[in-house]
Amino acid sequence: MSDLFSKFDPLIQQREQLLSTGVTDPFNLVMEKVESPTVAICNGKRTILLGTYNYMGMTFDPDVIAAGKKALDEFGSGTTGSRVLNGTYAGHRAVEDALRDFYGMKHAMVFSTGYLANLGIISTIAGKDDYIVLDIDSHASIYDGCALGNAQIVPFRHNDVEALEKRLKRIPEGAGKLVILEGVYSMLGDVAPLKEMVAVSKANGAMVLVDEAHSMGFIGENGRGVAEAQGVIDDVDFIIGTFSKSVGTVGGFCVSNHPKFEILRLVCRPYVFTASLPPSVVATAATSIRKLMDSSDKRAHLWENSKRLHEGLRQLGFTLGTDEPQSAIIAVIMPDLETGAAMWEALLKEGLYVNLARPPATPAGKTLLRCSLCAEHTSDQVGEILAMFGAAGRATGCI
Ligand SMILES: Cc1ncc(COP(=O)(O)O)c(C=O)c1O
Repeated sequence: MSDLFSKFDPLIQQREQLLSTGVTDPFNLVMEKVESPTVAICNGKRTILLGTYNYMGMTFDPDVIAAGKKALDEFGSGTTGSRVLNGTYAGHRAVEDALRDFYGMKHAMVFSTGYLANLGIISTIAGKDDYIVLDIDSHASIYDGCALGNAQIVPFRHNDVEALEKRLKRIPEGAGKLVILEGVYSMLGDVAPLKEMVAVSKANGAMVLVDEAHSMGFIGENGRGVAEAQGVIDDVDFIIGTFSKSVGTVGGFCVSNHPKFEILRLVCRPYVFTASLPPSVVATAATSIRKLMDSSDKRAHLWENSKRLHEGLRQLGFTLGTDEPQSAIIAVIMPDLETGAAMWEALLKEGLYVNLARPPATPAGKTLLRCSLCAEHTSDQVGEILAMFGAAGRATGCI
């Protein structure tokens, strides 16, 4: 009998080798208590959170929590059903209304996660004879959506407008074309040149889907994302997003002005064949989304935090993923996995949590310490974070 697990042997060996150095497992941390969007207790120690994607700090917003508790009392703990059967409650409609208002779009469809939103929308609209042109650094959920729909996949070099145009021009005349882009790329925290890319896509007859998972709530005047900030939101056919970042709970969605959009509710398998979100979750999401419409002060503070952390880390001598701060994600590039894991552990001992990211999830085989800032980080906390990076960097020889 062949062991189906033998394909994992290289990963098992790499993991064993890393843990044999005595380093704490960076992929197995437990948050023993979470005190706020920016502080948790880990290994009994107060730890500043700098790797949560909780960009707008909505997880502890009193209105959001009250809405969740009320829905739990009034509607119970779960729907036990699909959206197309017994799983659409008033709260699911209300969160879709909130999304329509937030984006100023005609249609909104909520999924159980952002992963399922990409899986469902992409696989349903782009099938076997269609072409999907996508940035090579696209999120796993985008690739999995392409695979599920069985479309022809044409990747192009990250954020390269000319490469996108060349790929589009090679697609046979008359074929269905979908271009998939992200507003902010989560590994390096860089922003896509959406203005140019959307123009090139439209000029070549393609529909455009933009995943704004890491920009919703923060980027753009109304927090609608990079498409809003670059003035092309009206030319984007589908925006995908998640509730697991700025919204502060769990869930995913797609908004669109496409006149036939509603038919997707009957044909999109990752929407139809899974249970809908619990009432408490959709209630927290709807409240959070409505509050995000009116959060320009928080957005301004988050930009300040991002700029200060970027500049401070650069001055300490770290190599960063972008020359300028472009989003709320700042990636610190490590020379290799061992050094990255040692630095990650040194930061945790100092009292700081960041994400360790390693290949194959990262571009160009890089090991990264990904920092994601929160609008609730105070100026004092940003100062503490920089001091901890300095101490850990010197202790591990990174700087
Ligand atoms: C770009 C992008 N799209 C989609 C997702 C999936 O979101 P969710 O956590 O809601 O499944 C993520 C999550 O990390 C993401 O980074």
